Amino acid sequence: MSQVKVALIGIGNCSSAFVQGLNYYSKVSLEESCSGLQNPSLGGMSPSDIKIVAAFDIDENKVGKDLAEAIFSGLNNTPKVVDVRLTGIIVEKGPQLDGVSKGTKNSINVSNIPDSNVSKILEETGAEVVINLLPSGAVEASKWYAEQALEAKCGFINATPSFIASDEKWVQRFEELGLPLVGDDLIDQVGSTALHKTLLKLLSNNGVKIVETYQLDVGGGAESMDTHDRTRTVKRDIKTQSVSSALPYKAEVVAGSTDYVDFLKNKRDSYFWISGNYFCNTPMKIDIKFSTTDGPNAGSVLFDVSRAMKIALNRKLKGAIIPICEYAFKKTLQTNPVEDAKETFQNFITENS
Ligand SMILES: NC(=O)c1ccc[n+]([C@@H]2O[C@H](COP(=O)([O-])OP(=O)(O)OC[C@H]3O[C@@H](n4cnc5c(N)ncnc54)[C@H](O)[C@@H]3O)[C@@H](O)[C@H]2O)c1
Repeated sequence: MSQVKVALIGIGNCSSAFVQGLNYYSKVSLEESCSGLQNPSLGGMSPSDIKIVAAFDIDENKVGKDLAEAIFSGLNNTPKVVDVRLTGIIVEKGPQLDGVSKGTKNSINVSNIPDSNVSKILEETGAEVVINLLPSGAVEASKWYAEQALEAKCGFINATPSFIASDEKWVQRFEELGLPLVGDDLIDQVGSTALHKTLLKLLSNNGVKIVETYQLDVGGGAESMDTHDRTRTVKRDIKTQSVSSALPYKAEVVAGSTDYVDFLKNKRDSYFWISGNYFCNTPMKIDIKFSTTDGPNAGSVLFDVSRAMKIALNRKLKGAIIPICEYAFKKTLQTNPVEDAKETFQNFITENS
């Protein structure tokens, strides 16, 4: 049985859900654990084959703490669903770079302990895969950690909307060193983009001519504060491009994050509007509100991507691993419809196994 050793960069809400999920699914049998996971077993690996070996942050409320405590500290507000055993992994201090935005600077106190030697820690802990969960907009910091992954000979998962796995230059760098790279901007397990694309596809497959559609959302996690502050346009472009790709023709499409509402905590409310015409130009409209919680929405997909990266490493694959990118990320070198991406991903997992 294979195990994958991962390092977490940014101990925010997604890391909290990821760590809680590893504890949660370690306590239930595989049959029970089917509930809530896209792939209880993937390539012969269960979630308990994912081992966290290192963790990095800058927040003084998290740095120096055991990971089990850090995930419930600072601005993290994703719900606690399980007691987490002490891990023995102490959150190390990374360099701040552009990790703090105008929106979060009054809420995050950056630890004043010296920065750790990140690539050395990655090497010493035997990390095989680095998961980048920095705030959206931390472009320089994301690139810096990608460099550390290259130096330590690790694969790199970029869950953030910073362009790394969709940038030919970075793909080439990982290819040259024989390492796998996937990203950018993780697709949620039950995400508004996937739901929007599925609805549009269903309607257009049934002959409906979509005229206009939008998807706008509000959330209350630190991530929404950051998005509001500095990545609203990037996110909107990525989402709009992704949603538009579901239709075989051009329509008026707008999809993006709009605002920060503090009392929502880590919850997100997404609003969908679709208008189109069916038989004899008869109008139809859809108006939906969809409510989720951000952190847990990344958990199952991160479990899949971590295990798929282990398969890529075992097969000595390098550069952008397209079947993983298209299954799990919104911004990729290519864009496939959601259902094709799932099939390609499953074929990738089982081929030569
Ligand atoms: N379901 C989801 O939540 C989801 C989906 C798609 C993409 N993403 C992306 O995942 C990323 C993480 O989301 P989140 O909600 O966990 O964010 P978050 O804001 O809760 O956490 C980010 C963490 O990074 C830390 N950080 C900031 N600068 C740092 C640095 N230089 N070095 C180390 N740590 C640093 C912060 O202190 C914080 O703990 C975001 O980029 C988001 O866009 C999340």
